[in-house]
Amino acid sequence: MLTDESATRELGAVIAGALVTGDLIALSGDLGAGKTTLARAILRSLGVAEEVPSPTFTLVQRYRTQKLTVSHFDLYRVENASEMNELGLEDALDEGAALVEWPENGLPARLQLEALTICLTALDHGRREIRASGPARWRPVFIKDIS
Ligand SMILES: Nc1ncnc2c1ncn2[C@@H]1O[C@H](COP(=O)(O)OP(=O)(O)O)[C@@H](O)[C@H]1O
Ligand SMILES: [Mg+2]
Repeated sequence: MLTDESATRELGAVIAGALVTGDLIALSGDLGAGKTTLARAILRSLGVAEEVPSPTFTLVQRYRTQKLTVSHFDLYRVENASEMNELGLEDALDEGAALVEWPENGLPARLQLEALTICLTALDHGRREIRASGPARWRPVFIKDIS
């Protein structure tokens, strides 16, 4: 459970601290659940000072940070596999880490298998239910959210 937006930002900081090249973070949840807010927190923690817009229209935004390059994708408007291929997600993972909103809109299954998937659900008063699944190395990051 994330009790408020600052808890989401703290989670972003912890994820940022563990993020390495090749990592794929799939951010799942309805519109307004907090996917972009969490992605922005991760990027801010990595030292990104420029604006971090939602990539709803550009589909991908790339950020070079001191630690690694991070590509922020939003698949909301992706309609088919060829559009997905053109986005260069595989290249992004060779080059750095990827944060992917709306993974259910076309994230290839083999990448889904390797991803840390974070599913956010809006509750009342800024609270967010959070469910995470993926590689075991991420478990310490989420252990406090299991109760
Ligand atoms: N605990 C929280 N975590 C994330 N966002 C929150 C939280 N509480 C309130 N919010 C608000 O909810 C909205 C989430 O929007 P956004 O991150 O763009 O969602 P999404 O990308 O999932 O559509 C923002 O306006 C944010 O300020
Ligand atoms: Mg978003």
